[in-house]
Amino acid sequence: MLRTHTCGELRPSKIGSTVTLCGWVDRVRDHKGVLFLDLRDRWGRTQIVIGPQSSPEAFEAARQVRPEWVVLAEGIVSPRPEGTLNLKLPTGAVELSCLKLTVLNQAETPVFQPGATELPSEELRLKHRWIDLRRPEMQANIFLRNRIVKIMRDHFADLGFIDIETPMLGRSTPEGARDYLVPSRLDHGSFFALPQSPQLYKQLLMMAGFDRYVQVARCFRDEDLRADRQPEFTQLDLEMSFVESDDVMNAVEGLVVRTAKEILDIEVPLPLPRLSWDECMERFGHDAPDLRFGLEIRDLTDFALHTDFRVFRSTAESGGRVRGILVPGVAVKFSRKDLDALTSVAVEGGAKGLVWLKVEPSGELSGPVAKNLGDACVAGIIDRLGATAGDLILIVADTFEISSKSLHMLRKRLGTQLELYDSKAMHFSWVVDFPMFAHDSVTGNLAAMHHPFTAPRTEDFPKLQSAPTACRAQAYDLIINGSEAGGGTIRIHDPQVQQQVFSLLGISPEEAQERFGFLLDALRSGAPPHGGIALGIDRFVMLFAGLDSIRDVIAFPKTQSASDLMTGAPSQVEPKQLRDLGIRIVSAPAQ
Ligand code: AMO
Ligand code: AMP
Repeated sequence: MLRTHTCGELRPSKIGSTVTLCGWVDRVRDHKGVLFLDLRDRWGRTQIVIGPQSSPEAFEAARQVRPEWVVLAEGIVSPRPEGTLNLKLPTGAVELSCLKLTVLNQAETPVFQPGATELPSEELRLKHRWIDLRRPEMQANIFLRNRIVKIMRDHFADLGFIDIETPMLGRSTPEGARDYLVPSRLDHGSFFALPQSPQLYKQLLMMAGFDRYVQVARCFRDEDLRADRQPEFTQLDLEMSFVESDDVMNAVEGLVVRTAKEILDIEVPLPLPRLSWDECMERFGHDAPDLRFGLEIRDLTDFALHTDFRVFRSTAESGGRVRGILVPGVAVKFSRKDLDALTSVAVEGGAKGLVWLKVEPSGELSGPVAKNLGDACVAGIIDRLGATAGDLILIVADTFEISSKSLHMLRKRLGTQLELYDSKAMHFSWVVDFPMFAHDSVTGNLAAMHHPFTAPRTEDFPKLQSAPTACRAQAYDLIINGSEAGGGTIRIHDPQVQQQVFSLLGISPEEAQERFGFLLDALRSGAPPHGGIALGIDRFVMLFAGLDSIRDVIAFPKTQSASDLMTGAPSQVEPKQLRDLGIRIVSAPAQ
């Protein structure tokens, strides 16, 4: 090693020793003719002091040095003079009295300083990612990710899981997103699909007898991106044989406890709360509810049948739902402007409007439609919500889906705006009993809620044919602070049932044989009951880091428009490459 110590290592016990440090120059200061360099590396920061007397050569070299240059500093560990100790820095009791300074490499003036307090735009950060990754915050995120992945690997290794790699070049797996395709050179017109997840491979590993599989698996999905979605992301993917839902959930709960303890030193009580999908949708309007705060949704449809207020009555009479939430104690605080902003949130969620009502000190309701509701309806609403003077009531009348979405968005907005939870708190829960199928919003056809290999609950088998939408799945999602951190299911291991589910999804026996013949064959060749789950590692780490974007826990993420600003990918390729692949571009690339 060029160095004897790292920049985070020196303590008063080393005073008097001669040491060599290497690193990046974080800052240079000239204080009354004495130069101070902060030298930074992965491990920390150390102050280097160079006076003109101690070593004229080193002083001369140091005068040239600029931020982000890479240098090697040799010298003697010295105590910092009285009054100059930096208690915030682990190395802050000492400094290096430099006798020799060697420039290992110069640096052009960086587009931004890793040590700057003001963060540059994310575009700039992504374009110069290697500089961004020098920032101590980013380094901490990447180290945290490394620690969490290590805990994950250790936990599942301890439980007898073995790590098996599965192909990147494969066939399309139906996880519901668009595939990234890779053209075949040897078979023009044929394409590999990058895996949306290792779903079928891991099921086949169970049929091959491996019993417990785990993998840190890269997944690719060409879908609309958000702060918690990347086109390529990483799952902790696992599968177990001879299990029921509880067994998979227990294995994951053990991981949650271990990670929370080791990373945050918090004790997570087990078992984690479990909510059925129906209950979640009814009480929170969403299948990944944030349970760090209340503001639960209550149904008011029965009272809406007894009012002359047109919006409520017609919704209730036509089979829609009138639902509301109570926001305690904010009636006075919320101005007309605040209420208009909340109305916009509801409308964003698809609602046609938002009824707001304030409970006045007299106990009467005020608000634009308060007078139209009638006594019976008002009394019912107040009673159901438990509203008292000073409270605000928000009501949406629409279909179940739209009222759910709007009220969920309002809950989320109010939770943050009113700081209803401790931002450091972690809340873990399971959502279970998802429907097997949902209607595709575009085609109206049945679509698998999770994926087509999910087993129905045993008691729902008889309904599979007669009432598929009433069938519940053996599915479970891990929710952390209102984010879906993982999802899994018990799989179908009976080829007939698998065939039946394919048919319900509109996949004919011929198409099923063509696309999934290998799975059906494997299911006919001795398939153990099996199930598993995949945790979104990026999201998991983001949540443990208390961050809002998974891009901050991925070394080289893509932008919202799925491009890599640093390398310029995706990019055009040489005409020869296209010829080799038998591909002709028919529309001009967008400028
Ligand atoms: P699912 O599709 O629910 O299940 O994915 C599992 C978890 O992966 C994370 N995730 C994502 N993270 C970042 N960017 C994305 N685009 C993205 N998409 C999903 C989420 C999610 O909970 N094969 C099944 C698992 C199984 O059944 O065992 C699957 O992939 O945290
Ligand atoms: P309107 O009768 O459409 O003028 O609406 C009267 C009030 O009811 C306004 O404050 C609207 O924001 C609200 N409103 C309209 N439609 C709905 C709805 N579907 N759910 C809740 N409030 C609504």
